[in-house]
Amino acid sequence: MNVLGIETSCDETSVSIVRDGKEVLSNTVSSSEKFHKIYGGIVPEIASRMQLEAITAVSDLAIKEGAIMLKDIDLISVTSGPGLFGSLLTGISFAKALSASLHIPLLGVNHIHSHIYANFLNGAGVKLPFVALVVSGGHTSLFYVMDFDKIEILGETQDDACGEAFDKVAKILGLGYPGGPHIEKMALRGNPEKFKFRCSGTKRPLDFSFSGIKTGVLYYLRDTGSGIRGRGSVIRYPLPLVKDIAASFQETVIDVLIRKSFHACKAKKVNRLVVGGGVAANNRMRGCFFEAAKDSGFKCWFPAKELCTDNAAMVAGFGYQLFKKGKISGLDLSPFA
Ligand code: KG4
Ligand code: ZN
Repeated sequence: MNVLGIETSCDETSVSIVRDGKEVLSNTVSSSEKFHKIYGGIVPEIASRMQLEAITAVSDLAIKEGAIMLKDIDLISVTSGPGLFGSLLTGISFAKALSASLHIPLLGVNHIHSHIYANFLNGAGVKLPFVALVVSGGHTSLFYVMDFDKIEILGETQDDACGEAFDKVAKILGLGYPGGPHIEKMALRGNPEKFKFRCSGTKRPLDFSFSGIKTGVLYYLRDTGSGIRGRGSVIRYPLPLVKDIAASFQETVIDVLIRKSFHACKAKKVNRLVVGGGVAANNRMRGCFFEAAKDSGFKCWFPAKELCTDNAAMVAGFGYQLFKKGKISGLDLSPFA
């Protein structure tokens, strides 16, 4: 069964063809990232306008690279939320038009759940049930996955998402957007023990809070007056300091993610942990999780790096699984934030 997946929840426009929920025949991703860079974050209006312009060409390319014909597509699976409303609307409207004109069934899927499914593509797979951690720019959640249509939320962030904290700390340090890869690069040569930053506690043990640590970095820099005012009154920090802050911040965040994920595994009495979302592309995080898992008797899985950030392959694959369980959407499908 060939599924055409569409993902437009944030700044990416992605279309993919996946066979039988596993084999990625094509996965085309176009990003409007460079148009947002000067604003230091995503501008929703720009994202949806660029998606409207890109979606037909991205879809044509995915079909061409997948080496299939339109008549060979059996299902259209599209991200219906959560995400930016205008962006979701663009993908959903395109999906509806394809579905109606080609008489192919349509299915709207949850973006965060589809990040978990990235671990099942290209031959990979994990035995059910398992605990899943999704760490992205918009969400940080722990789930108990009994089946693809039986996903229980165990905890989530009470304020900033994990990726959002990487983006904000990178912005404070004068690094680029998106911040995650910049922090990771700086942290490579920094001392993770130099600063003792802390993530705030949460009422429920499996929830997260990342806004306090960002404020901690901001106040440290303000109170120590380590900045140098440069051209255009832009404040810059000495490179060794930036590297140490990036490393210390990253290490604290990873520690919290590991601690809470393993806590969730223990609570649910499973030793399988699946990780997904843009932040899961972080090499240091991947290494620390594998090491901690080995020491504590857990097994953990991460998707291939290109399948961590937003992509339509995970949407197509996840849609296949839900369709097999009888899920289907009508032309009244609408976005949810
Ligand atoms: O899953 P994603 O592509 O989009 C959302 O659904 O939000 O995640 C994007 C987030 C951004 O916040 C970005 O900074 C973060 O993932 N990210 C990383 C890395 N690559 C992307 N964070 C840490 N280390 C990375 N290497
Ligand atoms: Zn995402």
